[in-house]
Amino acid sequence: MASNTLPTAKLNTGAEIPMLAYGTGTAHFKSSNLDQIDRKTVESIKTALSLGFYHLDGAEVYNTEAEIGIAIKESSIPREKLFITTKVFTNMTTIPTALETSLIKLGLSYVDLYLIHNPFFTTSALTLQTAWKAMEAVHRSGKARAIGVSNFLRSHLLSILSIATIVPAINQLEYNPYLQREGIVSWSLERGIRTAAYGPLVPIRKARPGPLDAVLEVLTAKYGVCEEAVLLRWTVQMGVVAVTTSGKRERLEGYLQAGGFELTEGEVDEISRVGREKHFRGSHWGFDYGDSRE
Ligand SMILES: NC(=O)c1ccc[n+]([C@@H]2O[C@H](COP(=O)([O-])OP(=O)(O)OC[C@H]3O[C@@H](n4cnc5c(N)ncnc54)[C@H](OP(=O)(O)O)[C@@H]3O)[C@@H](O)[C@H]2O)c1
Repeated sequence: MASNTLPTAKLNTGAEIPMLAYGTGTAHFKSSNLDQIDRKTVESIKTALSLGFYHLDGAEVYNTEAEIGIAIKESSIPREKLFITTKVFTNMTTIPTALETSLIKLGLSYVDLYLIHNPFFTTSALTLQTAWKAMEAVHRSGKARAIGVSNFLRSHLLSILSIATIVPAINQLEYNPYLQREGIVSWSLERGIRTAAYGPLVPIRKARPGPLDAVLEVLTAKYGVCEEAVLLRWTVQMGVVAVTTSGKRERLEGYLQAGGFELTEGEVDEISRVGREKHFRGSHWGFDYGDSRE
């Protein structure tokens, strides 16, 4: 098994973010029996932690923060080694209280990254700008060491940048070779906002057959790694933090092969070029994302 030697990236706060994260949404999302601990999710997170996934991605709406907290406690990994992200959406109008509630569930005194989950609020009592001011306040309280956003288009970012005293550290977007978001990723980085990718494995789990299939076949044979590792490695070499998940230990071990090899510049470019031949969005979210080619 390759060790997890994936790089970290520097956030605009100066903190280092591990570029491979273990997500607790999608496959682990809890939609019923919300007050009951899902031991399967706890065990999956513990497996991920034991393999070296020290960046965990949670959210208020996933209803998995308690499971993350238990997994962290049972893993006995020192807090300072971990990078914990969570997000606010349901309680957007009361961000400081929402963070307090998340911290209690997580059993932590701070998160490393706190994100506005989505710019499409379901309340008219709030603007992007007032929400961002509340995020800045929780950052100043020390309970969110970095703050950022998710699913924001350029227009949303421009709106908050016009009043921000703290620039978002991260914008978490659906991103993969078939959804390269070229209009926003480098534009954001120039402003200090790094992109994190959810759905990085969409080309192999939802978009087959596709033009990348043949390229992946060549690269998996060349490096002796699985297809997931090639896609995750491409994401990381694009400067984008990869947020993935699996309930299966063997799959997670495969993902970690991404830490054991490096694609050449030509191979990164080839995946990008061939990826542009197909445009595919795998997200199940019911929101209107505007032009997802942005
Ligand atoms: N900010 C947002 O709005 C947002 C939206 C969506 C997700 N997220 C975050 O991003 C995380 C990852 O999202 P994602 O699940 O879309 O990521 P992903 O990395 O694209 O997909 C992970 C899934 O791929 C499956 N998989 C892996 N290899 C496969 C293969 N060869 N064939 C078929 N299936 C395969 C795994 O299934 P098994 O479990 O069966 O191994 C796993 O459930 C979430 O957990 C969440 O934390 C954020």
